Amino acid sequence: MWLYLVVLVVLYYLLRWYRERQVVSHLEDKFVFITGCDSGFGNRLARQLDQRGLRVLAACLTEQGAEQLRNQTSDRLQTVILDVTKTENVTATTNWVKEHVGDRGLWGLVNNAGICTPMAPNEWLTKQDFVKVLDVNLLGVIDVTLSLLSLVRKARGRVVNVSSYCISKYGVEAFSDSLRRELSYFGVKVAMIEPGYFVTNMTQDEGFIGYLQALWNPASPELKELYGENFPADFLKTLSLLKPRWTQNLSLVTDCMEHALTACHPRTRYSAGWDAKFIYLPMSYLPSFLVDLIVYCYYPQPAKAL
Ligand SMILES: *[C@@H]1O[C@H](CO)[C@@H](O)[C@H](O)[C@H]1NC(C)=O
Ligand SMILES: *[C@@H]1O[C@H](CO)[C@@H](O)[C@H](O)[C@H]1NC(C)=O
Ligand SMILES: *[C@@H]1O[C@H](CO)[C@@H](O)[C@H](O)[C@H]1NC(C)=O
Ligand SMILES: *[C@@H]1O[C@H](CO)[C@@H](O)[C@H](O)[C@H]1NC(C)=O
Ligand SMILES: *[C@@H]1O[C@H](CO)[C@@H](O)[C@H](O)[C@H]1NC(C)=O
Repeated sequence: MWLYLVVLVVLYYLLRWYRERQVVSHLEDKFVFITGCDSGFGNRLARQLDQRGLRVLAACLTEQGAEQLRNQTSDRLQTVILDVTKTENVTATTNWVKEHVGDRGLWGLVNNAGICTPMAPNEWLTKQDFVKVLDVNLLGVIDVTLSLLSLVRKARGRVVNVSSYCISKYGVEAFSDSLRRELSYFGVKVAMIEPGYFVTNMTQDEGFIGYLQALWNPASPELKELYGENFPADFLKTLSLLKPRWTQNLSLVTDCMEHALTACHPRTRYSAGWDAKFIYLPMSYLPSFLVDLIVYCYYPQPAKAL
C-alpha cells in the first residue's frame, strides 16, 4: 500500500518535471517588456533574458539606470524611461512598445516595478503612505497591464506579476486571478511570483532604520507613551528575525520569472526563496488564530499593552 503511494508520488513529480522542462520555440523572436529595471529583480531578469536571446524592452525609472543596463547587455536590449504612476507616460511607453514589436505582438509583460513601504505599526502611518504604495504597486500595474494587454493578446503571450508582502498584495492577487480567467480564452497565460525576503539593495536596510526613526520622531506624545521609547528598536529586532540567516540569491526569483516566460506550461504561482516556500506559503494556509498566535510570540509589546 505504502509502496503504491510512493510510486504514485514519484511518478507525479517525474511527469511534472518533464512537463515543466518543455521550452517554447523561437525565443529569439520574442519581445518581453519589464518594468523597474534600474536595480533588483527587474535588472537581473533583463540581463538574464538578454543572455538567453530574447528581445528585452526594459523600462527604467532613471536614465542613469537605463544607461548602466545598456552598458551590460547586448544591442538587442532597448530601454525606455517610465514612471508607472503617470498615465501619459504609460501611454507613450505603450506606443514605443508598439513600434518595436510591430505585428508580432508582445510575448511577455513583467510587472516588476514596485515599492514596499517598510513595515511599521499601521497607527504610525498616514493615508499618504498607503496611497504611495497602492499608486505604484496596484494602480501602476493595472494601468500598464490594461495598456499593453492587446499587444500581449496578439502574441498569445504571458503576464507575470510580482506580489510582495505589502498592502497591495491582495489587490494584485485579485486582479491577477480575474485576469487569468478572462485571458485564458485568448491563449494568454498569467503567472504570479511571490518572493520571500530578499535584500536587493545593500543600503535598503539602513534606509529602513531611518524611515522608522522619521516616523517615530514627530509622533504625538500620546503615541510615544503608548508604545514606549524602546518600541522602534524592538520592532527592528523582530524584523531582523524575518530575514533569512543567509543572503538569498536573487536568481531564485528571476529563474521563476524566466520559467514563466519560456516554459510551454508555466505555473500559475511561483513561490521564490526558501522562506517563502517553507514559512510564508504554509502560513497562508494556516487558520488565522494559529497565525495570530505565532505572530503574537514575536511581535514586540507596546509599553502600555493591556
Ligand atoms: C556606460 O559606458 C560608457 C562608455 O563605455 C561610459 O562612459 C559610461 O560611464 C557608462 N555608464 C554607466 C552608467 O555605467
Ligand atoms: C516618461 O517620462 C519621462 C520623464 O518625464 C520622460 O523622460 C520619458 O521620455 C517618458 N517616456 C516616454 C516613453 O515618453
Ligand atoms: C498582474 O497584475 C495585474 C494588475 O494588477 C492583473 O491584471 C494581472 O491579472 C496580474 N497578473 C498576475 C499573474 O498576477
Ligand atoms: C537603495 O536604497 C536606498 C534607500 O532606500 C536608496 O536611497 C537608493 O537609491 C537605492 N539604490 C538603488 C541602486 O536602488
Ligand atoms: C546566483 O545564482 C547564479 C545562477 O544560479 C550564479 O551564477 C551566481 O553566481 C549566484 N550568485 C551568488 C552571489 O551566489
